[in-house]
Amino acid sequence: MSQPAIAADTKPWRREGATPFISVRGVTKQFGDFTAVADVDLEIYKSELFCLLGESGCGKSTLLRMLAGFEQATSGTITIDGEDMARVPPDRRPTNMMFQSYALFPHMTVEKNVAYGLLREGLKKSVAYERAAEMLRMVKLEKLARRRPDQLSGGQRQRVALARALVKRPKLLLLDEPLGALDKKLREETQFELIKIQETLGVTFIVVTHDQDEAMTLATRIGVMKDGKIEQIGEPREIYETPNSRFVADFIGSVNLFEGKVDAVAPDMMRIETYELGPVLLPPQAGLTLGQQVWGAVRPERFAISRSKPENTPNTWQGVVEEMGYIGHMSQYRIRLSNGVLIRASQSNRLRDEDPISWDEKVWISVQPSAFRVLTR
Ligand SMILES: Nc1ncnc2c1ncn2[C@@H]1O[C@H](COP(=O)(O)OP(=O)(O)OP(=O)(O)O)[C@@H](O)[C@H]1O
Ligand SMILES: [Mg+2]
Repeated sequence: MSQPAIAADTKPWRREGATPFISVRGVTKQFGDFTAVADVDLEIYKSELFCLLGESGCGKSTLLRMLAGFEQATSGTITIDGEDMARVPPDRRPTNMMFQSYALFPHMTVEKNVAYGLLREGLKKSVAYERAAEMLRMVKLEKLARRRPDQLSGGQRQRVALARALVKRPKLLLLDEPLGALDKKLREETQFELIKIQETLGVTFIVVTHDQDEAMTLATRIGVMKDGKIEQIGEPREIYETPNSRFVADFIGSVNLFEGKVDAVAPDMMRIETYELGPVLLPPQAGLTLGQQVWGAVRPERFAISRSKPENTPNTWQGVVEEMGYIGHMSQYRIRLSNGVLIRASQSNRLRDEDPISWDEKVWISVQPSAFRVLTR
C-alpha cells in the first residue's frame, strides 16, 4: 500500500478561500408537505472525516442520500469535486455509500461480497479478490473470508459492509451509522480503525451517527442537526466549548444552564442576574445589551468543589452533596443549593483521594468567570 497521504494543511476550513470538496447550498428536501431537510448549507473539505450528528428523524440519512444521488433535492445545489451533481446518477458520482441497513448478499461468501462491486466494474478476478483481501485485512476479517453472512456476528457483518464500501476506493465515502451494531469495546476499536483507514486512504468520509461520543472521537468537524437544519458546524472542541445554542450545549455532553438577564456591563466584566444562582460575574461579551435575556452554560467539570470557602473567587455558592457517583477516572456530583437548585458537577480522579467529598457533605462550589458560555437562544 502507498504511503499515507496526509495533507500538509490538515485544517483547510480554518483557511480563508480554501476550496471545499463538497458544497451543499440551500438544499431542501420535502416529502409531500413535510420538510425533512431545510435549507442546509455545508462545505466539506478533502480528506475530512465529517460527522453528521443529530437525534432520530432529524434528516441525517436524507441528507446523505441526496449526496449519494439516491434522493433528489427539492431545491438547492450539491457540488462534488467541482461538478454540479443535479443530473448525475448515483453510479456516476465519485461516492460510495454504506447504508444504515446494509444488506449483504446472503448467498455469497464474505470475500465475494466485498469483491462483487469490483467484479461488476469488470476488474480482473485476481485483482478484485486481491483488493478484497486487502480490505478484509484492514477490518480484521481475513480469517472469515470464506464464510457466509449468516455465519457471522452482527458486528462482523457490519465490518464486511464497511470493507465493501471501502474497496471501490471512492473519493467520497458516505457511511450511515457504520458502527451501530458493534458493542462498546469493538465500537471504540473500530472508531480508531476507521480513523486509521481514513488517514491511510486519504478518502473523504461523511459519517452519520446519533452517538455524540462517537462524533467527538471520529470527526475532524461535526455538523449538529435538528429538525432538518444544521444548528452548528465546528471542530469537536469548538462544539463542546463554544456551543451556539442551548440545544447544542445540551446535546453534546452534560451542561448546567442558568437563565437570566444582562445586569451590568463594564470594560473588563459583565454581570448577569440569574434565577438559579443570583448574580454571576463573567468576561464581557460583544453583542449583548443591558436587560437582554441570556443563558449561562457551565460544563460540570468546570465547577470546583471544596470543603472550605474558596478565597478571592467570584461565583461561589454553598450546597449539600445530594448524590455522588464514582466512575473510576472521575466522580460525578449532584449538589443542592440552599435555594433548591441542583448543580451537576464532576471532578477528575487524577490522584487517588483517600478522603473524597461524599454524600450529605456541606460543600462550596465555585466557577471561574471564563468557564461560563453565554447563550442567547
Ligand atoms: N420517503 C419518505 N417519505 C416521507 N417521509 C420521509 C421519507 N424518508 C424520510 N422521511 C422523514 O424525514 C425525516 C428524516 O428522516 P431521516 O431518515 O433522514 O432521519 P435520520 O436523521 O436519518 O434518523 P435516524 O437517526 O432515525 O436514522 C423523518 O421524519 C422521516 O420520517
Ligand atoms: Mg438515518
